[in-house]
Amino acid sequence: MDVEFIKKHLVPHPDFPKKGIVFLDIFPLLRNPIAVETLITNFVHHLTSSTVAKTPNHKIDVVVGLDARGFLFGPIIALRLGAAFVPVRKAGKLPGQCHTALYEKEYGVDSFDIQVDAIQPGQSVIVVDDLIATGGSAKAAGELVAKCGSQVLEYLFIIELAFLKPAEKLDAPLYSIVQVE
Ligand code: ADE
Repeated sequence: MDVEFIKKHLVPHPDFPKKGIVFLDIFPLLRNPIAVETLITNFVHHLTSSTVAKTPNHKIDVVVGLDARGFLFGPIIALRLGAAFVPVRKAGKLPGQCHTALYEKEYGVDSFDIQVDAIQPGQSVIVVDDLIATGGSAKAAGELVAKCGSQVLEYLFIIELAFLKPAEKLDAPLYSIVQVE
């Protein structure tokens, strides 16, 4: 099954970056082009068989990827869908006028930026990242999309740390390929 095949390439590292955290490394997956193809096909199949039906023009217009690992998968999904790719970056990295949203990290607060003209009001937007933990950064991305005058249709991740209940923070459905209970 494709999910089992994808799972095999996600490598757990206990006590990284600190004691008590099991870090799930997605980079081994990128070493295998068949695994990357399986992953992208899973996302695109889900989007085209279910998500696009909820859009007015049966098309996803914009894929938003989160800094940094959302940049690895978001552009490939966007290309397959014929959609734009838009980065949400850590504060201070994007030129020009930006919207900003704060989110909570394990220690303190961080902030994300999006360029103000990157999304047009009413466009159909999805948000992509490799992993969702508490959902704080995804929620901030949703706020940035809202500041651009649009709304997130769906949030997509390879891995969901379901025991942290991230879906409760989000204003749209969450799709994940691998759930950690
Ligand atoms: N980001 C937050 N928690 C993580 C985890 N357990 N593995 C990889 N990335 C993470």
